[in-house]
Amino acid sequence: MNLILLGAPGAGKGTQAEVICAAKGIPAISTGNILREAVKNGTESGLKAKKYMDAGELVPDEVVIGILKDRISEPDCKDGFILDGFPRTVPQAEALESMGVRIDRVVEIYVPDEKIAKRLGGRRVCEACGNSYHVDYKPTKVEGVCDACGGRVVTRKDDEPATVLERLRVYHEKTAPLKDFYEARGKLKTVVGQEAVEDTTRLMLAALE
Ligand code: AP5
Repeated sequence: MNLILLGAPGAGKGTQAEVICAAKGIPAISTGNILREAVKNGTESGLKAKKYMDAGELVPDEVVIGILKDRISEPDCKDGFILDGFPRTVPQAEALESMGVRIDRVVEIYVPDEKIAKRLGGRRVCEACGNSYHVDYKPTKVEGVCDACGGRVVTRKDDEPATVLERLRVYHEKTAPLKDFYEARGKLKTVVGQEAVEDTTRLMLAALE
């Protein structure tokens, strides 16, 4: 199954992608994670991407499309994949189509903008391994220390309040039109993001039946 997760920043795409990955045995591909790794490693695409990411803007289509194309041609994607954070613009969705990639289902996780600030304001990520936590919903066992690798757990630069507002603005302008794009192709289902992660997961798995 080839699946796309749509939704505003902080709607819970990454959280749900991990659960579906475990349930369905297909890899979850986050273009945000790939880009953050590229920034950390100082690669050419990382150097191009950093200023856009820090400002809450989208990285140019040609950079992200190239990264995605390489990733989905890896052997672990042969039985399907979950795209978390791609496509984010209509040209990115058109690029997927022109690569001949069949998409089985697109699930939008809907969370109102007012709730996003609390979710992203409380998110913490491990500098070393990238694991994601939340001060209320998913705290680390020891404050500031990653449960998985012992790395330092910090606030993501683009989770600062002003940058979150800009990410939301960009989402509504550039990414939300993808709902119409996939609705017109009969692929879109919408799940309302719930307070408890497990409740969203239950709705999400039902949407994939
Ligand atoms: P990316 O990392 O993809 O950021 P995003 O879409 O803004 O998504 P987030 O990771 O912020 O949120 P999420 O929906 O995954 O939520 P999460 O599960 O973490 O991209 C970063 C940047 O990279 C972009 O701004 C852009 O610059 C660039 N980029 C990436 N892809 C691109 C592309 N295709 N084109 C151009 N540029 C691109 O949950 C959020 C928090 O809420 C967590 O802490 C979680 O624990 C908590 N939470 C609370 N309650 C719940 C609940 N019920 N369900 C789930 N999570 C919950």
